[in-house]
Amino acid sequence: MALYNDNPTIAHLDRTIDEKKQGEVFFKEAETGPRKFYIESYGCQMNFSDSEIVASILSDVGFSATRNMEESDLILINTCSIREKAEETVRKRLRIFDKVKEKRPGTLVGVLGCMAERLKTKLLEEEKLVDMVVGPDAYRDLPALVANANEGDKGVNVFLSREETYADISPMRLGSNGVSAFISIMRGCDNMCSFCVVPFTRGRERSRDAFSIVAEATDLFQKGYREVTLLGQNVDSYKWENPENGTPVSFAQLLEMVAQVHPDLRIRFSTSHPKDMTDQVLHTMAAHENICNYIHLPVQSGNSRILDLMNRTYTREWYIDRVDAIRRIIPECAISSDIIAGFCTETEEEHQDTLSVMEYADYSMSYMFFYSERPGTLAARKYEDDIPLEVKKRRLQEIIRLQNQISYRHNQRDIGKTFKVLIEGDSKRSDQDFCGRNSQNKMIVFPKKPGLKPGDYTWVTVHEATSATLKGTIEE
Ligand code: 5AD
Ligand code: SF4
Repeated sequence: MALYNDNPTIAHLDRTIDEKKQGEVFFKEAETGPRKFYIESYGCQMNFSDSEIVASILSDVGFSATRNMEESDLILINTCSIREKAEETVRKRLRIFDKVKEKRPGTLVGVLGCMAERLKTKLLEEEKLVDMVVGPDAYRDLPALVANANEGDKGVNVFLSREETYADISPMRLGSNGVSAFISIMRGCDNMCSFCVVPFTRGRERSRDAFSIVAEATDLFQKGYREVTLLGQNVDSYKWENPENGTPVSFAQLLEMVAQVHPDLRIRFSTSHPKDMTDQVLHTMAAHENICNYIHLPVQSGNSRILDLMNRTYTREWYIDRVDAIRRIIPECAISSDIIAGFCTETEEEHQDTLSVMEYADYSMSYMFFYSERPGTLAARKYEDDIPLEVKKRRLQEIIRLQNQISYRHNQRDIGKTFKVLIEGDSKRSDQDFCGRNSQNKMIVFPKKPGLKPGDYTWVTVHEATSATLKGTIEE
């Protein structure tokens, strides 16, 4: 998955109370008004997207969101298990929530997401820090679990489903800029990469009803959104069959359907898997201006022996062929990657292969990690985690240094070019500047011009570039 984040995003509503659906009344409203929930999300975009489903489910039973945990009746933490560090961060946060509980008795704490499955009983019984543990496929059960916890019954539901896609739930957009939104198109993963805990925490792969995806995109467009990112652990294996006539819908076809919602709605997607990314998807991208020229195509390692141990089911040559196909079919396309340093038994030469594939693919950016053994994974069972931590860290530093150079070079090449940019809002540094992305997913900062607002498209010529950002001016 792309966009791994160790910092939380705090719940922030862009839907007013008036719009809030009044659902079944599970909860007595306190004298002070509706009960409030506070949610923090860690990990990948999928987790952030799940938090929006959770918010919608809670809103339907009369909860409203707050950004202040001190005033909340229910504190939720949507957790990530992908690396050890992510789990440590969550444990620290739980101790902080416990302090809020001390000050405000009756506040409930719930652990959601990927850690739920792994640590269900441990969190409830041994650590006594939480009142409910809810896995990624059990969010519909949350209102009942909260009601039980109110009565003093701690609850767990980590049931992993083969069908749940939350297709009918309209996510409540949290922390949204009102311009771009995530749409979850599938859940789970069947790939079994040997390093990865996701198949165990999120269960089997299943694809969501294509029409419900198009309906969500249409609704977002009508509400003023101009960019959607279709999310799945492996979007290329999206496969849904229309139950009415048995017609299958592939990822390329889904892309086309969403692209046709409106020419002003930009489409992004993540994550692509090199073994499944077809030329058909690339041709669909090339045929639609509103499907962005950007592919997140994690390589993980540039060495075929390591890729085999990782059970990635492709070789270095196969990956290079996919990069060549992208260049041939969409010459302007930017590619980004996920890279793991120091996987079991990796030699210095094999590490060099990772560096050279990075050069070849000319990544605009990468998410880079050192290998962290996860209990229960294929690698944990089959291979010794034998690369010393300082070697892993040194290799990771080499990877990061190289990526910075490549990103800098990539961005320098944009100087003098003019890009269509979707305005997202004020730049971080100054309210005199807007920021927005070009099709290649690069952030560009430029001085504002009267009449333009977030959600508008404008043409920007780039004048300056660092390894992280481009700066430019609006083309008159
Ligand atoms: N150790 C380090 N990185 C990992 N990733 C997944 N599992 C591990 C692990 N055990 C990385 C992969 C994946 C990204 C989301 O996280 O690069 O693509
Ligand atoms: Fe997302 Fe779970 Fe993977 Fe973390 S472990 S990146 S939350 S799917």
